[in-house]
Amino acid sequence: MALFTDPRHRAAWLRERLNWHGYRYYVLDDPEIPDAEYDRLFRELQELETTHPELIAVDSPTRRVGGKPLAAFVPVRHRVPMLSIRTETDTGPDGAVAFDAQVRRELDLGDDAEPVEYACELKFDGLAISLRYEQGALVLAATRGDGETGEDVTQNVRTIRAVPLRLQGAAPEVLEVRGEAYMSRADFERYNARQRAAGLPTLVNPRNGAAGSIRQLDPSLAAKRPLSFFAYGLGEVQGWEIPTTHGAMLDALATLGLPVCEERTVTRGAEGLINFHHAIAEQRDTLPFDIDGVVYKVNRLAWQRQLGFRTREPRWAVAHKFPAQEELTVVEAIEVQVGRTGAITPVARLNPVFVGGVTVTNATLHNADEVSRKDVRVGDTVVVRRAGDVIPEVVGVVLERRPPGTQPFTMPALCPVCGSRVIRPEGEAVARCVGGLYCRAQRKEAIRHFASRRAMDIDGLGDKLVEQLIERNLVHDPADLYALDATTLAGLERMGAKSAANLVEALERSKDTSLERFLYSLGIREVGEATARALARYLGTLEALLAADETRLLQVPDVGPVVAAAILAFFQEPHNQEVLARLLAAGVRWPAMAVQTSTGESLTGKSFVLTGTLESLTRDQASERLRALGAKVAGSVSKKTDYVVAGHDAGSKLDKARELGVRVLDEAGLLSLLEG
Ligand code: IVH
Repeated sequence: MALFTDPRHRAAWLRERLNWHGYRYYVLDDPEIPDAEYDRLFRELQELETTHPELIAVDSPTRRVGGKPLAAFVPVRHRVPMLSIRTETDTGPDGAVAFDAQVRRELDLGDDAEPVEYACELKFDGLAISLRYEQGALVLAATRGDGETGEDVTQNVRTIRAVPLRLQGAAPEVLEVRGEAYMSRADFERYNARQRAAGLPTLVNPRNGAAGSIRQLDPSLAAKRPLSFFAYGLGEVQGWEIPTTHGAMLDALATLGLPVCEERTVTRGAEGLINFHHAIAEQRDTLPFDIDGVVYKVNRLAWQRQLGFRTREPRWAVAHKFPAQEELTVVEAIEVQVGRTGAITPVARLNPVFVGGVTVTNATLHNADEVSRKDVRVGDTVVVRRAGDVIPEVVGVVLERRPPGTQPFTMPALCPVCGSRVIRPEGEAVARCVGGLYCRAQRKEAIRHFASRRAMDIDGLGDKLVEQLIERNLVHDPADLYALDATTLAGLERMGAKSAANLVEALERSKDTSLERFLYSLGIREVGEATARALARYLGTLEALLAADETRLLQVPDVGPVVAAAILAFFQEPHNQEVLARLLAAGVRWPAMAVQTSTGESLTGKSFVLTGTLESLTRDQASERLRALGAKVAGSVSKKTDYVVAGHDAGSKLDKARELGVRVLDEAGLLSLLEG
C-alpha cells in the first residue's frame, strides 16, 4: 500500500483492479473477489475522484454510472461503414448448400479444391454497436444508424459492465470493435418483475429492452436496464496485427478482454454449416439470451477481402434465421376457459399466425390481472410469442395500432360452461367457477375426487372408468353414479359382468359413510380432510352446515375467512344444491353424531400433551382430532397443560404430569373425550 501514497498512482491502481475484477465478473462470469470487496475498492476510487477531480480518467469504472442526461444524440460518421448482412429465412439445408456453392464459385475454387472453412456464430437479437478504442481506452460507442452515420451512445454503452473501458495487454493505436448489445433473459425477467411490482410498464421482449436502453437519453435510466455485449467483427484498425482468420480474430478480441460468445465454431463445407444450424436450433430455448438465427462467415480474412461486398452486403457472410418466436397478429375475441378445478383463464382468439414453427390461433392471457395490466382488447394488434414447447402467450399490445372504439376486457360473472357464479377470493390471482359438482369442465375431477379412497371410497371406480362414463354421457355429476346399473356398466370397455356387479356393490357400500367423508368428497375448495372433520364435529349435521352463516362458520376450529367464503359460495350455488339433494335422495347417509357445540367447547383452548404409544390411532391422528375440536397440542408438560394423554411406555412426560398434578388420560379416556 505504501507504494500508492501518491493519489495519482493509487487511482490508477484502483482503476486497473476494478476493471480487471469487472472483467472477471461480467465477461468471464468467474469473479475472483467477493462483491463487498469490489464495492469497497469502488467507493475508495469514488472518494479519491471527488477530492481530486483531475484524476477522473476515461476508463474509470466510476464513469459507468451517473452521467448527465443528454438533449439529443450526436451523429457519428463511421470511418469504416457498418454494413448489414444478407439474411435468409427458413432456408433449411438448401440455404447452406447454396451459400457454399456461391462462395466457391466466386473464389474460383475448382471441384476438387478443399472444402471452404467457415466461422459459425449466433445471430444475436439485440442492437448493433461499434466500440472505438484509442490507445486501449474506450472513447466512443455508436449505433449503426444508416451504416454510414450512427449516433454517439457512449454514455449508455459505458453502463454495460461487459464492455471493457480499457483493453488488456498491448494496446492497439485504434481498434473499432463491432458487436451486439443485448439483454439477457434473466435481466429481462428481473427488470419486468421489478416494473410489475412498482406498477410500471414492462418490456415486451429483450430486444426492445436493449434498443430502449441504448436509445435512452438519461444514462441513469439506461443503467437500470442492464445490457450485455458480444463482439463479432472489426471496424477501423490501426497499429494492431489482424490475425489471418475470422475465428483467430475473435480469439484475439477475447484476449483483449472483450466478451466473445463461446457458442461459435469453425467448420468446413456446407455439411459443417448444416450441423451447426441443427445443433444451435436444438439449444435455442436453453440459451441465456435470445437469438434469431445463425451467421456463417468465410473464415479466411484474405478470402473475405477477395469476395468483397455487393451493394451493402458482404459476399462472404450470410445469416440464416430461425422461425420467428414472436409475430404480430390481431385479437379477434377474448374468451375464458374453465379448467378442471374451475380456474377461469382468459384466452385470446387470434387471427391465425405462423410463429415458433406452428400456426397459432389461441394464446393464453393467464388471468384477469394480466389482461388488465397488458390492457389487451378485442381488435388490438398484439405480439404473440411461442418459444419451444411453451404455450403461446400474448406478450404485449401495439398501442399505435389500436382501432377506435375498443373496450377493456372484463371477466364474466358467470361460468361460460355451466352458468354458475364466478368468484375470485381476495388476494388470489385466479377466478373460479363455484359450480364444482355441476360444471362440465370440472366433471372428471369432481367425480375422481368423490370416488377416491379418503372420500366416498368407491372401490373399482378408477380414472379410466370415470373417463368412459363421462364420454358416454352416462355420468354428469357424482349423483349420477348411484343410478348406474350392472347392465350398463358391463357394456363398458374392459368391464365384465363380474366387475360390473362388484362396482354396483361398491357404490351401494359407499352410501354408508360419515358426514366428514361426505363433506370432503364434495370437493369444496379449501376444504380438505381436516376441515371437513372439523365442520362435521362442530356443526354435527348437514342441515346445520347449510344453515350456517359466516359468523357461525368462523367459530369452527380451522375455518378462517377464506375457507368460510369458499364454503358459503359452494352451498349457495343452486346447481350444487341440486346435486346434493340428489345424493341424499340416492341414499347417501351417515350416523348421527354427537355435536361438539357446548360439550365440545369444553375442549376449546384446552392444552394437551401426548406421550407414549397409542393403539387405535397414531399420535398425529390424535393431535389432528384434538385440534379439530379446538384443543391445542403441545410438546412439553407445564403447569398450563390441561391433560396429558399417556399411551404405552410413557416416560418422563408422564412423571412430570404427576409431579405437577396435571390430569392424565389413558387411550380409552382420550377416545371418550374425542367422541364426546
Ligand atoms: S456480422 C458485415 N455477426 O445482425 C457483417 N452480425 O445485418 C456485419 N448480428 O444488425 C454483421 N449477430 O447487428 C454479424 N454474429 C453476428 C451477428 C450479427 C447479430 C446482427 C447485426 C446486424 C444484423 C446483420
